Amino acid sequence: MTFANCYEDGTRAEAYATLEFKNTYHLAYRDIQAILHAHVRGRRAMDFGCGTGRSTRFLCQLGFEVTGVDIAEDMIRKARELDSSGDYRLVPGDDLRSFPPGTYDLVLAAFTFDNIAGQDKVRLLRDLGRLLNREGKLVLIVSRPDIYIHEWASFFDKRLSRKPTGEIGR
Ligand SMILES: C[S@@+](CC[C@H](N)C(=O)[O-])C[C@H]1O[C@@H](n2cnc3c(N)ncnc32)[C@H](O)[C@@H]1O
Repeated sequence: MTFANCYEDGTRAEAYATLEFKNTYHLAYRDIQAILHAHVRGRRAMDFGCGTGRSTRFLCQLGFEVTGVDIAEDMIRKARELDSSGDYRLVPGDDLRSFPPGTYDLVLAAFTFDNIAGQDKVRLLRDLGRLLNREGKLVLIVSRPDIYIHEWASFFDKRLSRKPTGEIGR
């Protein structure tokens, strides 16, 4: 099965850039700090699927030196616009060969794998694993489909096209 990346879209990038942690979005990140504190040694991090940089800036605030990486040009453009001092890189075709292997203490993928098909997941997880150093950790935040189907949290995006601004699902 192949998935189109719905984030390769200027309008969606504009919308995504406004989300930050309002409404119930903070819940998704609530426990991450403690998880990282318990399991990650070192400060060098990659935020894989950084979008407009929300998760990258979250890691920066925790003291990580972060490179945000995304496959969608509009997302990276918006991330740079919001955070001109941040390090955001476009990875066309998910070619990660320009990143030095064995160097990262952490690779975080926050909701990135929700939109990636099974066979690509396996390849990408291997490629990301190669970027980690011996003690490095790969941390994935993923959602169950229910979170999009029900209106339990502000992840709900069915009505995005009808929203005049970027606020999703409220
Ligand atoms: C739901 S957004 C999450 C953005 C950010 N991590 C956050 O928490 O705000 C998912 C992001 O993953 C990116 N993405 C999807 N497939 C990707 C891939 N194969 N390689 C890199 N980024 C990808 C999308 O372009 C999108 O920006």
